[in-house]
Amino acid sequence: MSHSILFKNASVVFPHEVAEANVLVEDGKIVDVDAADTATASEVVEAGGLHLMPGVIDDQVHFREPGLTHKEDLLHASRACAAGGVTTFLEMPNTKPPAITREGVRAKEQLAATKSLVNYGFYIGATCENLTELQEADNLPGIKIFIGSSTGNLLVDRQSALERIFGETELPICAHCEDESTVQANAQRLAGESDVAVHSRIRNVEAAVTATRRSIDLALRHKHRFHVLHVSTGDELELLDNTQPYITAEVCPHHLFFNTDDYARLGSLVQMNPSIKSAEDNRRLWQGLIDGKIQVIATDHAPHTLDEKRQPYPSSPSGLPAVENSLGLMLDQVSAGNCSLTQVATWMSDAPARVWGIVGKGRIAAGYDADLVLVDMQREHTIRNDEQYTKSGWSPWHQTRLTGWPVATWVGGRCVFNREGFHESVRGSKPRFDHARGGYWATPDGIGTA
Ligand code: DOR
Repeated sequence: MSHSILFKNASVVFPHEVAEANVLVEDGKIVDVDAADTATASEVVEAGGLHLMPGVIDDQVHFREPGLTHKEDLLHASRACAAGGVTTFLEMPNTKPPAITREGVRAKEQLAATKSLVNYGFYIGATCENLTELQEADNLPGIKIFIGSSTGNLLVDRQSALERIFGETELPICAHCEDESTVQANAQRLAGESDVAVHSRIRNVEAAVTATRRSIDLALRHKHRFHVLHVSTGDELELLDNTQPYITAEVCPHHLFFNTDDYARLGSLVQMNPSIKSAEDNRRLWQGLIDGKIQVIATDHAPHTLDEKRQPYPSSPSGLPAVENSLGLMLDQVSAGNCSLTQVATWMSDAPARVWGIVGKGRIAAGYDADLVLVDMQREHTIRNDEQYTKSGWSPWHQTRLTGWPVATWVGGRCVFNREGFHESVRGSKPRFDHARGGYWATPDGIGTA
């Protein structure tokens, strides 16, 4: 039976402006962004005083299923998404087993189809041996390369293998850029130091810059669409000049908001790969976002249990959960006057849709999917460990007070979360990835046009 929703009197966050409008949704699609007050629908959502935004597309998460489900699983993680306004996630291949074959990716898609409350896509992981799998994979967001090792054992460090992956595959590539030999040499030199702050001296600026330079060189020579995951240093921004249309980049909230001073307070809770860097790097990364050198904000949601995190360094694993707090953290930046709602929607919804060729998602416009989030910019919210939906049950932002918070989320026109809680019968779906659209071009106003 046909279902329609009229969002009435919302302040709608369009790609270029915020304007009061009525938005009409029919059968999962946005059909009118300027509907009359008298329009009829099977359901009316009174949205006066609230902002209607496109659902967040988080293009870098680790949801741990299969194999590491004591840390996280698709049900908990997708609830966390729904509560945080994330309507689509793209998940990384370092599960157990790793997703390095088409069959392995399909198995994850099947799990998500039965378990995930929000939309999903899964990257295929590169190894030194799986070129044929990478060549034959399609309708995926892309290929993930760990050019430096991180959690799990995926690593492609050999130049000949990298040349073939960049030269002989079609899907867009993204990479974890930390130079393995720099990291290993630093780790040897600093072995025996047990203060977790040494993590940022081992995985230092040089490690990040060397690997980012190496992968950008590969992408430009092979004219291959390439996305730099989690840029963590100001110096990497200099490598991102004049690299469009082949190269895009992203930053994570923890690299914007945490720096090495935070080890004293948070210890291994802020141990991440790439490591957190200096306050000056925070500032330069923020400026890179504002300037459009970085197009995307993603979380790298990488949950481990608190018991695992509390092991002494270097046994403490790298990674932190963030997927349910990223939108709130950015809305708080809007409240503080540091950016606008249209910028947040561009960085968190529109740009990732374009970078990964996700058809019909990322903005509020007629014909687009009704993946939507209502946010209350007046609402004050304190992040608390005991209110996290991630299975890992904690947040590095515990006790952080924010102004502006997501209050209700729709996936394909179905409400998946609101003040009554989760609507657990909702299931997300796999979007279509159309890479023929050719990636992301930034226009002077920062809005991408495909
Ligand atoms: O700190 C990290 N943890 N960085 C990554 O790239 C992987 C992640 C994980 O999966 O734990």
